[in-house]
Amino acid sequence: MENVFIMDHPLIQHKISMLRNKNTGTNEFRKLIEEIAVLMGYEALRDLPLEDVEIETPIEKCKSPMIAGKKLAVVPVLRAGLGMVNGITTLVPSAKIGHIGLYRDPETHEPHEYYCKLPDPIEQRLIVLTDPMLATGGSAVDAVRMIKQHGGKNIKCMFVIAAPEGLERLHREHPDVQIYVGHLDRELNENAYICPGLGDAGDRIFGTI
Ligand code: PRP
Ligand code: URA
Repeated sequence: MENVFIMDHPLIQHKISMLRNKNTGTNEFRKLIEEIAVLMGYEALRDLPLEDVEIETPIEKCKSPMIAGKKLAVVPVLRAGLGMVNGITTLVPSAKIGHIGLYRDPETHEPHEYYCKLPDPIEQRLIVLTDPMLATGGSAVDAVRMIKQHGGKNIKCMFVIAAPEGLERLHREHPDVQIYVGHLDRELNENAYICPGLGDAGDRIFGTI
């Protein structure tokens, strides 16, 4: 699928296996999510545009490449997406941070919006949307729609684990968006949880189980 990138780096796979373990506690889970975000961010940002800038070394003046354009915007989907933000800002410390608040209704599994604040001018920024889980795809489809309604154009989405159903839906509804997935899992269960998955990402990051 064009614009869909499934990670195959052994370090990412190893850390995702540790995340899945039900005996991994909150502290370790949080660290792993952040480390995975660093590794995925490294892959997802390899096409950042560069421009030559004049630099004076101790030896002589030269032109040397630096990241071009407006600072990128990291946009976590609350709550669980927050766990990946520090991973991306480790790579790009000057990134601006927006927030999108969505929660999934436990009965219908439909997303409900409760917050949206994005850094201006959003239309000039590369936007990196973060959420550990892509299940039915409802939350991600809505989050991308909200960003586009605010003028966002250049969007990359990062998910640690995705279900095939959600990946297909997000790609179908927003084919222009680049989607990065740490691991593509088997399927959704009757409660729209990812199998084998890792359970509820937000609860495991914040210790609210
Ligand atoms: C989880 C997850 C995604 C969403 C995925 O969040 O972090 O945002 O569910 O499911 P979907 O693809 O079926 O929409 P949740 O709604 O549980 O909120 P939380 O992060 O506040 O726990
Ligand atoms: N949200 C989660 O946190 N986990 C799932 O498996 C599905 C949605």
